[in-house]
Amino acid sequence: MEPPSSLTFDRNTWSFDCEPTLNDSQVLEFCREGFLLLPGVVPDEVNQKTCEYLEGRLPAQPSWTPRGWTEQDIERVRASHEPSAIFLEEWYIEHVLLNPQLAGVMRSLLGAGVGLPVLASHHATECPQPPQGWHHDADHVFGPELEFVEVFYFPQDTPAELGPTEVAPGTHIGHHSRDLDESGVLAAGVAGTLGIHHQSILHRRGASTATGMRHMLKYIYWRQTPPVQDWIEESGFDPETAFYGGHHTARFAAHMFWWLRGKGDQFRIIGGQGWPWRSDQQVGPSYGYGRTDGYLPDWRRNNPDGYAR
Ligand SMILES: [Fe+2]
Repeated sequence: MEPPSSLTFDRNTWSFDCEPTLNDSQVLEFCREGFLLLPGVVPDEVNQKTCEYLEGRLPAQPSWTPRGWTEQDIERVRASHEPSAIFLEEWYIEHVLLNPQLAGVMRSLLGAGVGLPVLASHHATECPQPPQGWHHDADHVFGPELEFVEVFYFPQDTPAELGPTEVAPGTHIGHHSRDLDESGVLAAGVAGTLGIHHQSILHRRGASTATGMRHMLKYIYWRQTPPVQDWIEESGFDPETAFYGGHHTARFAAHMFWWLRGKGDQFRIIGGQGWPWRSDQQVGPSYGYGRTDGYLPDWRRNNPDGYAR
C-alpha cells in the first residue's frame, strides 16, 4: 500500500484528512475479514521513544494541553493504564497517530475528516504468559455500520514468542466463541507494526514463550461524515461477482460494504444461493443481485451484544 499523497492535520478539531489509499477489493476484504496488518510502518526511533515514554524514562513534552488539564493531570494520565497523554507528544502525533500508511487506510474506511483517538489503552505484559481467553471486547456492537476502527500498535519486535494479539478472521459480524487451544491469525511483526481491526472481532492476547516486556497500545479512530464511496476505484471490480464470503457470512460482509458505499438502505437479499453468495463453479452470476425487496441480514439474532434498534 502506498502512503497517501497529501495529509492535513487539524489540532483544534482533532482530526485529519488525506487521500484514500484502499481500493474496492481492499475495502471489501476489510468487511469480510475484519482486520488488516501494516508490518513495521513506524520508524525505529519512534518505537524506542514510545517504549521509553511508557516506561517513564522519557520526559513528557506535551505539544498541547487538553481543556481543563493541569500538568499534574498529564503525569497522572501518563502513569495510568490509559496513558492518553502520549497523544500530546508531537513525535507521536506525526509518526504514529498520523502514520501515512495508517492514515490512508483510516481515510478509506472512515471517510473525510477522520476523528483521532482520545483514549489509549496500554496492554503491558511481562512474558512468558499463557494465552488469554478468546473474547469480543466490551461494548462491541454487531451491525453493518462502520463508525469506528481500532488500532493496535506494537512498539517493540513482537514475534509469535512475545504473544502478539491473535484475531479470528471474519468474527466481527456476530457472536463467536472459541476454545483456548484453537488458534487464529497472529498480528506478529517487527517493531512499529500496526494492526487495524473491527472493534467487534473475536481476539485475545496470544501465548508467549519468550521472556521480556510486551508493550501494546490500543485506541480507536472515528467516522465524522456519512459514508460515501470515495476510496480508489478499481478497474474491473464488479460488485455483482465479487467474493463476499461463504454461507452465513457473505450477507454480512456485503451489507457492510453496501453501507460503506452509502447504499445501506437499499440493501436486500433473497437468501439461499442468491447474491451475495456465489461459487467459482457457477456458469453465470448469482440470482438476486440488485433486488430492492427481500431480506436484511439479522445482525443480532439473540441480541448478545445488548443493543436494540
Ligand atoms: Fe480484548
